[in-house]
Parts: sequence; C-alpha cells; structure tokens
Amino acid sequence: MSPVLSSVQPLRRALALALRLGTNAQTGSGYAAAENRRFCPAVSSGVAPLRASSRRYSSGTAPLIRQLFESESCTYTYLLADTETREAVLVDPVLETIDRDLKLLQELELNLKVAVNTHCHADHITSTGLMKRRLFGLKSAISKFSGASADILLSEGDKIAFGKHYLSVRETPGHTDGCVTLVLGDESMAFTGDCLLIRGCGRTDFQQGCAKRLFNSVHQKIFTLPEHCLVYPAHDYKGQTVSTVGEERKFNPRLTKSLEEFVNIMNNLNLAKPAKIDIAVPANLVCGLHEV
Ligand SMILES: [Fe+2]
Repeated sequence: MSPVLSSVQPLRRALALALRLGTNAQTGSGYAAAENRRFCPAVSSGVAPLRASSRRYSSGTAPLIRQLFESESCTYTYLLADTETREAVLVDPVLETIDRDLKLLQELELNLKVAVNTHCHADHITSTGLMKRRLFGLKSAISKFSGASADILLSEGDKIAFGKHYLSVRETPGHTDGCVTLVLGDESMAFTGDCLLIRGCGRTDFQQGCAKRLFNSVHQKIFTLPEHCLVYPAHDYKGQTVSTVGEERKFNPRLTKSLEEFVNIMNNLNLAKPAKIDIAVPANLVCGLHEV
C-alpha cells in the first residue's frame, strides 16, 4: 500500500493551498490552455490564510461532503473533507467541471490529497490528470485492475485517508474489471461508482463487463453493508441523488432478482454505445490526458 494511503502528512494548510492553487503548468493542448486561462483570474486573487475556526462549513466530527453534478454525462463527483485538518478527497471528477471543482476547493479552503476514479469511465473524461497539473502534490488513484495509470493503484482493503477519516476500497468488478466501491470508515456511506446505481446498475456489455461478476460484487460487497448506509452512485439519469443499502436491497429492480434472471436482463438491454467511448477510454487510461 502506498504511504499516501496509510498515513496522512501533517497539514501545511494555507501555505500549501496557496502554493498548489498557484501552480498552473502548461499542458500543451488547446483545450487545457483554455481551461487554464479561465481558471487563472480566480486563483490569482489570492487565498486567505486558513483560520483555526474554519469548521463553519460543517459541524461535528462527520466529514464534509458535497455532491456535484456534470449534466452532459449525468456524472456525480463527490468531495469529501475533514472539517478540521481540511484534507480532502475527490471522487470521479470530470474534465468539463474542473474549474467549478477547483473553485470550490479554494472557497472551502481545502487541501486536496487524492483524486480517485471508481473505474475507467467510458462516457466522460476524468479531470484527475489536469487537476494534478494545477494542484501541487495531488495524487491520482484508480484500481490496479483498471489497466489505467495513476499515482496510486488501489487494491481490496486499501484506505484513502483524509484527516481523521478514510475511504476503504472494496473491489466490485462486473461493469469493468477495475471497478471499486469506496466506503467511509464508519460505513455510513458508500460511493458505488457504476457498480450499483439508484434502482439500477452499470451496464455489462463492454469494457470487460460481466453480469455475473457484477451481481456477485453487489451482493457480497455492497448489500453486506449496514441497511442505513447511504449509496452514492457515479451517475443518475432520473434526478435521484442518494439511496441506501436497505432501499436497494428491497427495491432495485435488477438486483432483487435471482442471478439467472439478472444475467438475462443485462444481456438484453440493447443499449447504444456511449457517445464518447472512443475518446474517453484512451484518455482515462492516462488520467484523462490523452490528446486532450
Ligand atoms: Fe462506467
């Protein structure tokens, strides 16, 4: 396990944040250059020193959580942070919304440690590579079975720490070989990627998809979590934002079926290929930086 996963360095707070947000390396591509230009004015105004009483954005010992949405691919990005140390983790950030996400980090005075993808996405390009060029010291992470490159290759049981909190990695293949579900340390919430969606699940007809593996992943790794555990998926196409393990155990129209029925459903969805698959997958294999 990477040292970044098992322990967290003491926070350098405002100094680190100011330095990191000020690092705006050129990427050599037209798109990225445009993104940089748009972002520069926001960060050049400076970052106020972090105050010890910055818990105003959240209360108690629970982590700060923000659910962010990208409307073209209907992707949810999640920001999690320790309200005292200000250390943060970003789950499934999208290239198109990088400026929004960096601005939020700046406004909330957070120190982003790790940007993690729940899998190698086929419908959008991740912003982790570009974000690493903007934020000094940021690490990218993805499953070691994804085939993608990243600073941290995740395995079952790894822990991604942010302050006193951590996300625990559960391998949940089936939609792809390298899908993971990230579970908060107290099992109060799970970020299920495309494995389990609200009243649905990820498709299994490309990218090493396997309906049987997905069924087993959900039943063995997600449905075994506490009933009240919140389920935060990577996508929703109907306006739903969150569910619980108990709800999905009862009402998921696919995963309440037997294995045989489930496989039959998944093998007959006849879905169109994602519009961006031919550019998104090659890009996401290299943190979103391929020809972007
Ligand atoms: Fe996906």
